Amino acid sequence: MLNVKACIFDLDGVIVDTARHHFAAWQALANELVIPFTEEDNEQLKGVSRVDSLEYILRKGNLILDSATKLQLMDKKNALYLGLAESTTSVDVLEGVVPLMDEMADSKIQIGLGSSSKNARMILKKLDLIHRFDTIVDGNNITLSKPDPEVFLKAAKAMDVSPEHCLVFEDAQSGIEAAKTGGFPVVGVGSGLETAHASFESLNGLSLEGIIGKLDFSQ
Ligand code: BG6
Ligand code: MG
Repeated sequence: MLNVKACIFDLDGVIVDTARHHFAAWQALANELVIPFTEEDNEQLKGVSRVDSLEYILRKGNLILDSATKLQLMDKKNALYLGLAESTTSVDVLEGVVPLMDEMADSKIQIGLGSSSKNARMILKKLDLIHRFDTIVDGNNITLSKPDPEVFLKAAKAMDVSPEHCLVFEDAQSGIEAAKTGGFPVVGVGSGLETAHASFESLNGLSLEGIIGKLDFSQ
């Protein structure tokens, strides 16, 4: 059985359902720019930084803009996102997350955050979870967004645990790729995440031991 010394959680889509707010905000912006933006596009953007997400949308619309306009658009998207996420509270923590974190704390397993979002600390405060984290690495601390493993490597280093003893929880294809490239065991949360070492529709009702028992490193 894998000896897990730390766990690293992604935020959007794993701890809280804010992924839908990112989607709605990008969709509103894309509408204004008259660029089609579908749920399939959004799948590609999960885990991807704000700037890389905007570049994706602009590429899709064959739109070339100067950097000042791009900054304005990113500010606009973020304002839309913040408006949608405004009412987030601790009741929005996805089912299964708190019991898992309790189990980790009881077993002296460190807890880290590895998120591409610059809003991560603000959201964790709203969820009343921030005190549970031994380290938080977010969009403000990285230069390369997922699928680059930087965010997870920084979190593991901050906890002084090597990647193979650090279990990552991810809902995004880019995040699973990032974890695997960094040498981390990774659990997919959601559907269509078969490339993860184990995947579950939701964390509800799962124990850490049960999750570890399902890890399959044959791929
Ligand atoms: C990731 C989300 O967690 O953070 C992406 O999955 C989002 O959808 C990215 O684009 C950056 O977020 P923010 O809050 O810095 O714009
Ligand atoms: Mg996510």
